[in-house]
Amino acid sequence: MLKGKSLIDPNDLSTSELEEILILANDIIEDPKKFCKCCEGKLLATLFYEPSTRTRFSFEAAMLRLGGQVIGFSEPNSSSVAKGESIADTIRTIECYSDIVVMRHPKEGAPKIASLNASIPVINAGDGGHNHPTQTLTDLLTIFKVKGTFENLKIGICGDLKFGRTVHSLIKAMSHYSGVSFVFISPEELKIPYYIKKEILMKGKINFIETDNLEESIFDLDILYMTRVQRERFFNEDDYLRLKDIFVLDNLKLQKAKESLSIMHPLPRVNEISVEVDSDNRAIYFKQAKYGMYVRMSLILKLLGLK
Ligand code: CP
Repeated sequence: MLKGKSLIDPNDLSTSELEEILILANDIIEDPKKFCKCCEGKLLATLFYEPSTRTRFSFEAAMLRLGGQVIGFSEPNSSSVAKGESIADTIRTIECYSDIVVMRHPKEGAPKIASLNASIPVINAGDGGHNHPTQTLTDLLTIFKVKGTFENLKIGICGDLKFGRTVHSLIKAMSHYSGVSFVFISPEELKIPYYIKKEILMKGKINFIETDNLEESIFDLDILYMTRVQRERFFNEDDYLRLKDIFVLDNLKLQKAKESLSIMHPLPRVNEISVEVDSDNRAIYFKQAKYGMYVRMSLILKLLGLK
């Protein structure tokens, strides 16, 4: 039962709850007009303490397309956060005015604290380098729409695997499906955190390899999930500058890939996918961004118990 729940970590959802959300998202894609009044009289609050384009706008578009309304901030200094108000007090106030809250915060665990102080559902829209569960829902819907299955997929994940919260959440979610294996492509400094390897991959007996070579890894992948180097999480600008362009996917590298490869990216992209790749029919990252709105429509309906 999803009604009234918060979504903080991808593992908050059972496999059947996850599938419920994806099935409803698919129904919405097939006939969006059928859902255009489902949230009449409901209000979504978006609390963004960090910049966002896709997550904030897709949540806002999702609520508006369901017939609901939206309040919130994208600049925390325009709220009483600037006067030092705590997360707990902010959320206890916001819940007086809204039915469901979406929060992005630079500190790991902030949306969890909000959910512990709230009597309405709180959705984590990204907390520091930790998790981004609705990006994972977006990624799963995209994979399902394009591949028709979650099983027996070889998934390459390339770039900043240390700070990339979308990566951590995707690994957690995909590790539930049989025959999934991972190729982690990153420089030494940006490898997958040990806790993900120990708690998710080793515990789940998931096959994975780590490499720093994109060209040599691309040939047998079913999915290549590119990520940007997360400048905002670096302590040292020189390290960022040294690592930022370490992997750039271009048409030459793609010559070695399968015709059935799907190239994904949570976006924003900086330089890690050459613009020439956009016209390759294997590039599905803008389609992925669109699916993000539909899956968030589904999530809102489920958490509000409206469908
Ligand atoms: N993928 C993603 O979270 O994008 P935004 O930072 O633009 O929301």
